[in-house]
Amino acid sequence: MEILKGMKSPLEMINYELEYEGVWFPPVVRPHCLEKLKTFEVREDDLILATYPKSGTHWMKEVILLMQHDGHVDKIGRETDLTKNLAMSFVLPQDTKRCILEEIAASPSPRFYLTHLPVQLLPPQVWTKKPKIVHLTRDPKDACSSMYRFLNSLARATNTTVSLELVYNHSFSEKAHFGNWFDHALGYWNHRDDDNVLFLTYEEMKTDLRSVIRRLEKFLGLTITSEGMERIIEHASVEGMKKTFAKIEEENENGKMYTRAFGLMPYMQKGVSGGWKELFTDEQRDECDKMMKEKLAGTGLDVHYH
Ligand code: A3P
Repeated sequence: MEILKGMKSPLEMINYELEYEGVWFPPVVRPHCLEKLKTFEVREDDLILATYPKSGTHWMKEVILLMQHDGHVDKIGRETDLTKNLAMSFVLPQDTKRCILEEIAASPSPRFYLTHLPVQLLPPQVWTKKPKIVHLTRDPKDACSSMYRFLNSLARATNTTVSLELVYNHSFSEKAHFGNWFDHALGYWNHRDDDNVLFLTYEEMKTDLRSVIRRLEKFLGLTITSEGMERIIEHASVEGMKKTFAKIEEENENGKMYTRAFGLMPYMQKGVSGGWKELFTDEQRDECDKMMKEKLAGTGLDVHYH
């Protein structure tokens, strides 16, 4: 596949060395596109979904799309062209110089786009135009084990292997892509009281999706009917989304470009909280718990993660 050129294995993906303003990035990101963020024109009516990788980005995207259509899943327009699958931190294949950012710039309002960028690298106009920003994060142990599953699907496709140890060591290092989890989460957490920011967690979605939807409804200024709520709950469940994604893959020639990263690595996997328990050693668990205790102490985010 064209976009995978030069990115042959999980190991190469992890070892890719692009550092920009103290943050490390995966091979799909190019410095000239990061540079363009500085002058990117944000609009007041933009909606930005900002997440840490493997934290339920596509789940939240689906929830918001369902909410915008009162739960009518068949009314959602699906853009299976990767270049129009608007994610601010990503770029086009390496053989082209264009950035997806340019597609976003050319899109009509109201725009809805995604990013994994840490808060300090968001386009500066975010702080003057104040678009709505929904931020989603997830227990770092689960984000790490989800990344392992994700890279495993790349390993299978490239006839290589990947170990949890490799992914763990990378995820909790300063070279973690899009920034270390703690810096990323705390960066957005510090903006949790801004009027245009809604800070949410994967765990809240798993525990009580209805109340997350009601908070989003107020924040986004939408109206969800009670029947709409039932439809959203059904279609946003793991089973519901698997059905929807299977249908998109069946009915569209390029459907996999919508449901999998690079048409290859599925965004939908187990969809549970605590999946890390099956993968982590006791030492990894203890080390993580210690990091969380130390780095989150006194921040308030320790209410969610401890
Ligand atoms: P797991 O690998 O732990 O299963 P992202 O979209 O940011 O890449 O996140 C992917 C994670 O979100 C995967 O986690 C995936 O299974 C989970 N996910 C996707 N849809 C979901 C849903 N409807 N309910 C719960 N989790 C979901």
